[in-house]
Amino acid sequence: MTKKILRALAGERLPTPPIWMMRQAGRYLPEYRATRAQAGDFLSLCYNPELAAEVTLQPISRYGFDAAILFADILLVPQALGADLWFVTGEGPRLSTVTDAGGVAALKPADAVHDTLAPIYQTLRILTRELPKDTTLIGFAGAPWTVATYMIAGRGTPDQGPAHRFKDADRAAFSMLIDRITDATIEYLSAQIDAGAEVVKLFDSWAGSLKGKDFDDFAIAPVTRIISALNQRHPTIPVIAFPREARSRYEGFARATGADCVALDNSVDAQWAAANLQTDGCVQGNLDPRHMVTGGQALIDETRAIVSAFRNGPHIFNLGHGITPDADPENVALMVDTVRNS
Ligand code: CP3
Repeated sequence: MTKKILRALAGERLPTPPIWMMRQAGRYLPEYRATRAQAGDFLSLCYNPELAAEVTLQPISRYGFDAAILFADILLVPQALGADLWFVTGEGPRLSTVTDAGGVAALKPADAVHDTLAPIYQTLRILTRELPKDTTLIGFAGAPWTVATYMIAGRGTPDQGPAHRFKDADRAAFSMLIDRITDATIEYLSAQIDAGAEVVKLFDSWAGSLKGKDFDDFAIAPVTRIISALNQRHPTIPVIAFPREARSRYEGFARATGADCVALDNSVDAQWAAANLQTDGCVQGNLDPRHMVTGGQALIDETRAIVSAFRNGPHIFNLGHGITPDADPENVALMVDTVRNS
């Protein structure tokens, strides 16, 4: 096994950590903006395999990242389950809403998702041919809770209020929705692996708003079920889990879910994580993405501090959340240089 990301995920400590970046193909890059304009809009870009492969490769050509992440979106799964989906420029996603048991029952069955998602598998097939031989190809999906928050509210929300209200009003129907998304996600990720994904990542961006038993039932349980199904079907494929802002619930998360690696958001203290999480296996993270806007000595110091904190165990360097459109591409180069020369 020569690819550095796969070695780190297998638990190997490397002299310098491999690096990639959440949202590495995105609006901060002029070449991304050009291809997106060519595609028309964001969803047309996601469903155009040639152009989606092209934008996936852009940050690899520019920075030589150790991993490429499939260009797609977590909200394609709700769309494949039958929801309407569109993006309002400058505002974000909009979806038709699922608000009760009837709405859950009306969703398409899990194995129907391939009808909509076939172009995504084609993007992966193109990438397996075109990626440099040392670059790892990462597939992904949203974790069920985060996907459900968008399906219920029909948009992003600051506190996931509509999803909490649905859960508290009708826990059985809410659990059915989580189960339906979980089944669809297993099908989707399994097909991504068949098409060439070498690692998959589950994004639970809103895990931090689940507390106590809700965290166990809706952050841990569905992710555990996805990982165990994938492990059965594809025993050699590692899984990265990202329970963003889970705070103390990061502790034991990898063990409980079977994840090979936990991705850390930027609120997690690196020294604490090295002592309490890295002991269970690989960790990924966790530079604050605002350094990609502000740059300078603070970027260098903070990057070195993270590399140094995780030096004694398996680590994949990344940001603690996605890079923002106002980031300066030069600052990304500075981060990559700092990691590789630390
Ligand atoms: O990381 C990557 O480069 C791979 C592609 C990727 C995208 N979205 C592309 C994208 C991935 C892994 C995602 C995940 C995603 N999408 C998440 C989970 C991770 C996170 O950021 O917390 C969520 C919550 C979404 C839903 C989503 N997609 C939102 C809320 C938005 C709008 C916000 C925004 O930044 O405008 C998107 C759009 C989106 N997804 C863009 C990209 C590059 C910007 C679209 C554009 O070009 O206008």
